[in-house]
Amino acid sequence: MTSGTFGAPVRSRLQATLGATPPPPPCLRPFTGADVPPLAAAMWAAYRGTLDEADVGDLPGAAREIQLTLNGEYGTFLPGASFVADHEGRPVGAALVTLYRDEPLLAFLFTAPFHAGRGLGRGLVHAAMHALAAQGHATLSLAVTRRNRRARRLYEHLGFVEVG
Ligand SMILES: CC(C)(COP(=O)(O)OP(=O)(O)OC[C@H]1O[C@@H](n2cnc3c(N)ncnc32)[C@H](O)[C@@H]1OP(=O)(O)O)[C@@H](O)C(=O)NCCC(=O)NCCS
Repeated sequence: MTSGTFGAPVRSRLQATLGATPPPPPCLRPFTGADVPPLAAAMWAAYRGTLDEADVGDLPGAAREIQLTLNGEYGTFLPGASFVADHEGRPVGAALVTLYRDEPLLAFLFTAPFHAGRGLGRGLVHAAMHALAAQGHATLSLAVTRRNRRARRLYEHLGFVEVG
């Protein structure tokens, strides 16, 4: 997740106000504990070679980061606002959401490269926003590396604005 270590990429904090979000695509489903091993493979494939690769490190690191998220390292995990995209019965992307200092936080978003560019990332965030709004939350926040243009564009199109 967000790393404050020396040499880490510079990040911005973004926030979206949750309004009346239309329902997400039906191909997405809520996260379950059984998703951890296959999602770790998708996560490592997504982060490998990117500016944020060091956040994950390697395949065991991806499994560790997902488990840390579930265990509350980045705030209380919100399974009802965390979504998975499947392809042929296997998870290929996810949005993992926590409650950090009483505010929903998008702790991780990733799509395995082979499935990228098909709207899964956007749909996963959209699903999280829809679920959070239905649960009565007012905002969703996240930290994104400033030079991660692809993720930033996705977030901007979903109404996120820079707050720090
Ligand atoms: C960022 C990420 C989640 C996007 O996932 P995705 O499933 O490809 O997302 P989408 O298909 O919804 O597309 C996202 C945007 O990328 C654009 N895009 C599609 N294919 C692209 C390509 N080959 N190159 C650049 N942009 C592309 C889409 O048009 C879309 O932009 P838009 O909002 O202007 O329409 C994914 O690239 C990823 O896992 N990256 C590594 C992890 C990461 O950076 N996570 C975010 C941390 S904050």
